[in-house]
Amino acid sequence: MPELNVIDHPLVQHKLTLMRKKDTSSNAFRRLLREISVLMTYEVTRDMPIAMREIETPICTMKAPVIDGKKLVCVSVLRAGGGILEGVLEVVPSARVGHIGLYRDPKTLQPVEYYFRIPPDMHDRDVIVVDPMLATGNSAVAAVERIKKTGPRTVKFMALVAAPEGVAEFHKHHPDVAIWTAALDEKLNEKGYIVPGLGDAGDRIFGTQAK
Ligand code: URA
Repeated sequence: MPELNVIDHPLVQHKLTLMRKKDTSSNAFRRLLREISVLMTYEVTRDMPIAMREIETPICTMKAPVIDGKKLVCVSVLRAGGGILEGVLEVVPSARVGHIGLYRDPKTLQPVEYYFRIPPDMHDRDVIVVDPMLATGNSAVAAVERIKKTGPRTVKFMALVAAPEGVAEFHKHHPDVAIWTAALDEKLNEKGYIVPGLGDAGDRIFGTQAK
């Protein structure tokens, strides 16, 4: 069964409500996105592998848990993914970082890659792909397809808000990739925006929306 996790923690839900409000400033929106991403990362990384290592406390030696395996990779989908990336790095500062840039071809409406830069040794790594809005799912499908070709051990997808259409499209292509989101909204509108959503996440992060 494809996995969809909606993080219903009250702090996450409260912060998302503030972000949805149209009068929330870019400054507040960015801060809330970072805070919410910290909380979401806490849930998304819950199953990270643990190994027991011997350490010395001031009192005695003990076997204590540490995160096992190669460092986590967070891949940010440009440009809005950067807002979530900041939160992930606050909780997992040793994570490696990748970026993928895609634009929609106006003729074919298909995503075209214009930037791809990730750590060289992806084999055996666990990857979290981050993009605030899972809308049509087209760019998420393309991003994960590209990342899978590099041979990671696992891939997860983290979005702030998801549309049912995007979730269905994503899991049609990647049934093995769990989605983590703070909200599953109602639908997409005719322009491909999530309803009720929060508008254009990139514009709200960077303050680039037309007046
Ligand atoms: N991208 C956004 O930033 N917002 C949407 O609602 C859909 C796609």
